[in-house]
Amino acid sequence: MKDISICLNGEVRQIAVAPNETLLDVLRNRLGIKTPKEGCGRGDCGACTILLDGKAVRSCLILAIEVHGQSITTLEGVGANGLTALQKAFVKNNVFQCGFCASGVILAASALLAENPQPTESEVREALAGNLCRCTGYEPIVETVLAVAKQAARQPAASRRTRS
Ligand code: FES
Ligand code: FES
Repeated sequence: MKDISICLNGEVRQIAVAPNETLLDVLRNRLGIKTPKEGCGRGDCGACTILLDGKAVRSCLILAIEVHGQSITTLEGVGANGLTALQKAFVKNNVFQCGFCASGVILAASALLAENPQPTESEVREALAGNLCRCTGYEPIVETVLAVAKQAARQPAASRRTRS
């Protein structure tokens, strides 16, 4: 076992991890973080997506021991101080059905909009290509991300900075 220190949703956490433990298992089974889901367990479905130093990554493919000193955001952290505009729009548009993919989709779309606030439709589709959804057919997901980006562009810069 080796001690690692991470910033998890804004809080510094220390935990001893085995060399072969995935970040997904440590988050779900030992740190009480349940929004990243285990779908395929091999990098194909995106259900386990988290933000690692702001980038959307598959937590099933990363060993916990590798993330020492890094910052991790899960959906618990994204919605902690009230839903973001993206989350509100997903709820309002009734985008998800079973919700299994929702955490990964929201985090991947959040990372995209943080890096590229005005993506094209193809950029949204490319950013979400690794997040499989067996329910929606993707159209409502893509349309909602584009609508939120368009809405943000219409807002004054000061209010955009407060919440995206
Ligand atoms: Fe990680 Fe499917 S569980 S990509
Ligand atoms: Fe069911 Fe996406 S809403 S998998």
